[in-house]
Amino acid sequence: MKQYNVGIIGATGMVGQRFATLLENHPWFNVKVLAASPRSAGQTYEEAAGSRWKMAVPMPESMKNMVLMDASADIEKIASMVDFCFCAVDMKKDEIKALEEAYAKAECPIVSNNSAHRFTPDVPMVVPEINPDHIEIIKAQRQRLGTKRGFIAVKSNCSIQSYVPALHPLRKFGLKNVLACTYQAISGAGKNFETWPEMVDNLIPYIGGEEEKSEQEPLKVWGEIKGNEIVKASSPSITTQCLRVPVSDGHTAAVFVSFENKPSKEEILQLWADFKGVPQELELPSAPKQFIHYFEEDNRPQAKLDRNLENGMAVSTGRLREDTQYDYKFVCLSHNTLRGAAGGGVLLAELLAAKGYFD
Ligand SMILES: NC(=O)c1ccc[n+]([C@@H]2O[C@H](COP(=O)([O-])OP(=O)(O)OC[C@H]3O[C@@H](n4cnc5c(N)ncnc54)[C@H](OP(=O)(O)O)[C@@H]3O)[C@@H](O)[C@H]2O)c1
Repeated sequence: MKQYNVGIIGATGMVGQRFATLLENHPWFNVKVLAASPRSAGQTYEEAAGSRWKMAVPMPESMKNMVLMDASADIEKIASMVDFCFCAVDMKKDEIKALEEAYAKAECPIVSNNSAHRFTPDVPMVVPEINPDHIEIIKAQRQRLGTKRGFIAVKSNCSIQSYVPALHPLRKFGLKNVLACTYQAISGAGKNFETWPEMVDNLIPYIGGEEEKSEQEPLKVWGEIKGNEIVKASSPSITTQCLRVPVSDGHTAAVFVSFENKPSKEEILQLWADFKGVPQELELPSAPKQFIHYFEEDNRPQAKLDRNLENGMAVSTGRLREDTQYDYKFVCLSHNTLRGAAGGGVLLAELLAAKGYFD
């Protein structure tokens, strides 16, 4: 496989640090550029991020002495040094939109973790096992932007990465109504227990903007390319409540679902066991071998025990049973900064690389 030079924009942040550790020994991608805000630019990665390193593994040796570039001021220079960039920054939405578009227009493709472009109609929002075909919209996006190579592709919000994969293979039975309550880890806010001590022994019943994303993003992921845009699916009807819980990593969802044609429990379990997507067929380096794991034990999946399954890239499910108001209910879990953020971004980039979008 061809080698690609890559940059990480927002390298000092929580998701940026995950990208750095995931890319350290990546078989296809070589990190050439680290960039962040003007506050960090000019410092080495170790100087800028060493004291706020949040990963369980140490900062990659090969990146410690790399000098951070300024994500906004150095766009042309960065674009000339890499084949594409990952982006995870904490800025205002319109600033992120403009920044990502400026990179695309400088012919530097962007694989983004930010939400700013998720509903731009010609920007694909991809869960590689579910809607890999949406990357075909990039042709229309390039026409709009007037670029040859440059484009933006995004991954979806971390909250939907457990229940959308579990529901996807069941769509053939006609998903009618979905209710999902999510129990979301504090790393989803870029925090740990040292930086957010108020979360110890606590629960906060509100995460700004999260319920709207959790209800709307699945419909774009399940949408269809029509002309120059991705048109959202009109069903199922989804309602959610998203709670912040005292867990370091791993978002859990309690899901209720009703169908047009109710399947048997055995049919659901078989479809979960058999679910394979393009990443598994292409054997992409970050793809989990078994995407959906079902636990028979009543007390699984558990965030602490099961979030790292298949390097944090698999989805765990459990407690599937009939419900008195919906057809079925179940519980599911995914690692929010791996599958839900940087890992999902790396897998999307692998899909784009395998399909020639960075050439
Ligand atoms: N945490 C998660 O689980 C998760 C999941 C999915 C998506 N996301 C999204 O990913 C993005 C980053 O999240 P995070 O948790 O990693 O945030 P974070 O830890 O607060 O990191 C923010 C990053 O943005 C950079 N930044 C801030 N202002 C900037 C500017 N004006 N120009 C360039 N860079 C700037 C920071 O650089 P300095 O260090 O120089 O300030 C830092 O590298 C957000 O859009 C978030 O919504 C996060």
